[in-house]
Parts: sequence; structure tokens; C-alpha cells
Amino acid sequence: MQNQLRNILENAREDISKAASKEEIEKLRVEILGKKGRLTALLRSMGSLPAEERPVVGKIANEVRESIEEMIAQAGEKLKAAEIQLRQKAEAIDVTIPGTPRSLGARHPISVTIDEISKIFMSMGFSVVDGPEVETVFYNFDALNAPKNHPSRDLTDTFYIKDAKDVLLRTQTSPVQVRTLLSQELPIKVISPGRCFRCDTPDATHSPMFHQVEGLVVDKGITMADLKGTLDAFVKQLFGSSTKTKLRPHHFPFTEPSAEVDVSCFKCGGKGCSVCKGSGWIEILGAGLVHPHVLEVGGVDTDVYSGFAFGMGVERVAMLKYEVDDIRLFYENDMRFIEQFR
Ligand code: PHE
Repeated sequence: MQNQLRNILENAREDISKAASKEEIEKLRVEILGKKGRLTALLRSMGSLPAEERPVVGKIANEVRESIEEMIAQAGEKLKAAEIQLRQKAEAIDVTIPGTPRSLGARHPISVTIDEISKIFMSMGFSVVDGPEVETVFYNFDALNAPKNHPSRDLTDTFYIKDAKDVLLRTQTSPVQVRTLLSQELPIKVISPGRCFRCDTPDATHSPMFHQVEGLVVDKGITMADLKGTLDAFVKQLFGSSTKTKLRPHHFPFTEPSAEVDVSCFKCGGKGCSVCKGSGWIEILGAGLVHPHVLEVGGVDTDVYSGFAFGMGVERVAMLKYEVDDIRLFYENDMRFIEQFR
């Protein structure tokens, strides 16, 4: 019996030392120490021993059981430590490895320019309003006093929505004038930036989609002097404090009188250079006093109220300001171009 006990101990030592997982050790524990285990079975048969041998064998059996329990506990600890080490190795983070660079976008030069223009007008008390890009013939032409035969109404100039009578992509931001007159209380002092569309073949200065900023002021006693003063203050902030304006007579159906507004060249100061094409002046916007027909559509009493309006091309302003020589660069989204306006 003592030999059997020794065998059990030796076999256990060998098996446990070979065990490679917690599951294997648990299996051995059950096989040796469990209710139906090898050692348990042997201890049960101790009853058949002569009485004087029992204490000796019992002592040895207890020692064997304790040894095996200790071996199992130790092997378990060792495996647990190895497991933790493995997990730590797998989960280790090397904080010194450089991160993956995420490329940052940049604000688009057209957005930058619209924001700059808006800020200047907001500082003069204008608020910003929005209007739809898909418009009707009424708002884009009729209400703006455009003659029925005006060439800009032509299919070759205007994108009409197919099969939808009277619906078009606005060719200018001026329809927002009419919408504002119809929806706002007087006095009115607004600007409205947004997209416009014209059937143009793209080249260095034309794009079928472009942006304008519209301006509208309606109050008692508004004159051309108010228009000129407002635009003077605006261009000084946009192009520099020595910038001058010049109003040239022009024609728009929705303003009377109408003018095209030139600014003195901010590059050469008026001497003549490549930016102003040698003339010293640069045309930047159209403007005038709001035509009474337009005010009447908006229900304004033209005996009491008058107004001025203006509209400028955002791309044109951005091209001048940043000396961009091709409008198409704005729509290519080449980051090498856009990043320069951060
Ligand atoms: N809508 C005109 C254009 O697109 C610009 C303009 C706006 C002129 C307001 C006068 C008053 O050319």
C-alpha cells in the first residue's frame, strides 16, 4: 500500500509538471483527488489493513494528499502568471510609436470670402437672409421688372427645370430682394449670399455655378448717397482703407438709376497693373436704387419709402483679392489650392 501511495505521488508529480493549462490541471485533480479519484479509492481500501498499520499508512496517505494538493496549487499559480504575462504582452501599447496622421480639411476660399463680406455688412447693422436656389420665373424675373423679352430669360442663359413650367435655377440672388420685401417689416437692411446658375460654358472667368452676395436696404429717405456711403465703407474694409469707389451709369431692370461700381486697384493704387488690366479701376458690383415697380410688388408705399440694392460676384472678389487667375480652380477641390486659404 505504501508503494502504491508513492507511485501515485510520483505519477502525479510527473503529470502535473507536464500540464499546460488550467483545464488539464483540473482534470488531474479530479482524477487523483476527486470522489472517484485514484488516491481517494486507495484511502477507502485502507479499512482492509491490519489495525496497527493503519496509522502509519494513514499518515503517509495524508502527506501524499497534501503534497499533491500543493503541487496542483503551485502549478495553477505558475500557469496563471504565464497567462497574465502573455496577455500583457498582447495588450501592450507602445506609446512611442508615432500616430497615424489624419489630414485636416481647410475652409473653402469662397466660404472664407462670403464670411468676410458678411462680417463687414453685419458690422454695419445688416442681417443675413437666405433664399432658395430653385426659383420661379416670378421671383427671378417678373417681380424684378425684367421685360418679357429680356435675353437673360432665354433658355441659352437660364437653366429651366425640365417639364416644370416657371421653375428655374436662380440666375442671380436678386429674387431674395422680392422675398424679403414680401416677408419682412420695414425698414429692411439685409444681405443674402448664395449660389447662382447660368448656362455658361466654363472658362477662366465663367462657371455655370457661382456665388453672389445681394444687398437690400429699404427705409424712409434712402438715396444714392446712402448707397455710395455704404459701399465706400465696405470696400475700405475689404480691400484696404485707401480704396476708392467710382459709380458708372449702367442698366438693370430692377434698379433706377443703376450703376456699376468700380474700386481703385488695391494692388497698384490706381497706377495700372496686371490685376486692373492697366486701367487703375476694377469693377466689382452692380447696384442702384430699387425700382418702384419692385417695391410695389412688395407692397411698399413708394411715396414714403425708397431703397438701394447691390449684388456682387463672390468668385470675382475672391479672384481679385487672392489673385486667382482661373475661376475653375475654386471647384476642383485640389487640396494644394484650398489649403492656401486656411
Ligand atoms: N443681379 C445683378 C446681376 O446679377 C446685380 C445687381 C443686384 C444689380 C442688385 C443691381 C442691384 O448682375
